[in-house]
Amino acid sequence: MIVTIDGVAASGKSSVSSGVAQALGVPYVSSGLLYRAVTLLGLNAGADLADPSALLPLLSAVRLEPLASGNRVWNADHDLTADLHSTRVDGGVSTVAALPEIREWVDAQLRALPAPLVAEGRDMGTNVFPHAPHKFYLTASPRVRAERRARERPEDIPAIEAALTERDRQDTTQSAPAPDARIIDTGPLTLQGVIDTILNDLR
Ligand code: CDP
Repeated sequence: MIVTIDGVAASGKSSVSSGVAQALGVPYVSSGLLYRAVTLLGLNAGADLADPSALLPLLSAVRLEPLASGNRVWNADHDLTADLHSTRVDGGVSTVAALPEIREWVDAQLRALPAPLVAEGRDMGTNVFPHAPHKFYLTASPRVRAERRARERPEDIPAIEAALTERDRQDTTQSAPAPDARIIDTGPLTLQGVIDTILNDLR
């Protein structure tokens, strides 16, 4: 069984997916972390983030560890996870995610993982796991999302809101909800409320 949880930037996908996966006793995978890892390695190497031939050689030892408590990304024996949620990576990741060659690489990493699992991102229900029997799509207003993310970033809420809106715009192509996804507005719900909504639907 595969459950897909897609949605716009900072809609709560990772926390919700982790909670759903733990309740089901299965792993969850965060596809965004892989795009973030490519971005971090590209930035650290001084590579052109729009040039897949500069990025792909950096990825041979990158591996996603889908722990239920929180995914980790490794480059050989170096844990990249703590550096993946910086404003610097936020600013470059949509450029990287627009490259078909990088999307193919991420998709291959995800499809190699054994089911059952909860998969979280933008195109899990449309492109990577189109036959998944359970699909969800999380939304919330830009202001609500910026207020949530302000707990994890140093910038103020208007700056975060502007950056989120710009990333949504750059991610439009891969962010369309699957026609068979249940759309959940997380604005009025608590984290546990979103998790329970999904678990009730699965039952
Ligand atoms: O947590 P947040 O929603 O801010 O971001 P994320 O899920 O970690 O994804 C980071 C970026 O990766 C997104 O802004 C997209 O550019 C890209 N992404 C994507 O294109 N497709 C996915 N399935 C997941 C992420």
